[in-house]
Amino acid sequence: MKDLTPNKADLDPIEIASIDEIRELQLRRMKWSLRHAYDNVAMYKQRFDAAGVHPDDLITLADLAKFPFTYKNDLRDNYPFGLFAVPKNQIIRLHASSGTTGKATVVGYTKGDIDNWADLMARSLRASGLRRGDMIHNAYGYGLFTGGLGAHYGIERLGATVVPMGGGQTEKQVGLITDFRPDGIMVTPSYMLNILEQFHKQGLDPRDSSLSVGVFGAEPWTNAMRLEVEAAFDMHAVDIYGLSEIMGPGVANECVETKDGLHIWEDHFYPEIINPETGEVVEDGEIGELVFTTLTKEGLPMVRYRTRDLTRLLPGTARTMRRMEKITGRSDDMIILRGVNVFPTQIEEQVMATGGLAPYYQIERYKAGRMDAMRVFVEAMPDAADELSKTAASRMLTKRIKDIVGVSTEIFVGDPGSVARSQGKAVRVIDNRGKG
Ligand code: DLL
Repeated sequence: MKDLTPNKADLDPIEIASIDEIRELQLRRMKWSLRHAYDNVAMYKQRFDAAGVHPDDLITLADLAKFPFTYKNDLRDNYPFGLFAVPKNQIIRLHASSGTTGKATVVGYTKGDIDNWADLMARSLRASGLRRGDMIHNAYGYGLFTGGLGAHYGIERLGATVVPMGGGQTEKQVGLITDFRPDGIMVTPSYMLNILEQFHKQGLDPRDSSLSVGVFGAEPWTNAMRLEVEAAFDMHAVDIYGLSEIMGPGVANECVETKDGLHIWEDHFYPEIINPETGEVVEDGEIGELVFTTLTKEGLPMVRYRTRDLTRLLPGTARTMRRMEKITGRSDDMIILRGVNVFPTQIEEQVMATGGLAPYYQIERYKAGRMDAMRVFVEAMPDAADELSKTAASRMLTKRIKDIVGVSTEIFVGDPGSVARSQGKAVRVIDNRGKG
């Protein structure tokens, strides 16, 4: 793989400023942001007043802990535009996520917000090893989802060429990658596996493709998956994180030269890790729920937004700004089996480590009597699809999950192609506990 470490001169100076300088900027911006939220959004005024806090009470960054949290439900309760902090005619773009339950959550951006977003996406792409003059194939979905357009404008801001492919039409994706010879690809990691499979179907060696970087996010994925994709394409696989409520893709990104977690772009988003049960802020290095406060957002400021994503904060390495460890999972996706917490990413690690299995999996939750139980559906590699190999793989995976994750599961090893392929964000867990 190529050394794609960016030139220091190309970085935004704040990325490698001193910690003191970054903290000073954050404090200044946080004061502005709390006041902006309090003065312009009825919900924040009510919440702050009820909690007996006022934006003027923020003297140090640690004072943020006195302010109340904001939840996904607050966006639903104020559907569609109730949390916007500027008049509607200053909002130049809307995005929305449908969610599986309840109303959509709608987010809005001013001209300034869109401009910052493009800058931060360009910064993320640079961190990933891409640069001006490169061509980038964008297979994140266009439309209300923030992935497609968020990536798109970042690619243009970087000065690279965007191929606005969007999601789906896997055959055509491979055709365009072969014909246009892009340097980078942006797509969910699970859909990248689908594209990989299509390369093989067309008799192409993915290692001969032009791709040197994949910028993968929008869903949890493991380092085991990284190694698999990097080896298959002979390219760097870098993690990008974001969420619509805070901005979209480009809130945090890994650096290609270190791949040791995602640097949070702390000049625009202030992270905290809290104990999800007590709401208390925990020390850097401890695992908990990631909470963000926006520092520059005009359209939709967010104060202590509970992401439900679980991770921990680590000191900066390739950049001064702090890193977050690869996300373990969302608290909503956590499965509790006889007191043991299990995340789909833990199952993914074991599937990837088991010989004879393809990297596709789906988990079913169901009721066994009164107890919660879990089944894992995986599939055999084409060269290991005979009954004997399938049985061996099933035994091995059962044992690995028992020994390493600590739970008993039923494993079903199907034929090649039997597990549903992802078209974007993979559905890892199917909850059938309410059925039969
Ligand atoms: O998924 C934004 C995005 C698009 C990020 C493209 C990266 C690339 P939402 O649809 O609002 O926004 O979903 C946000 O997806 O809270 C996480 O649970 C999950 N997520 C996003 N990136 C990662 C990642 C976009 N790199 C939710 N690792 C977040 C793990 C991720 N989970």
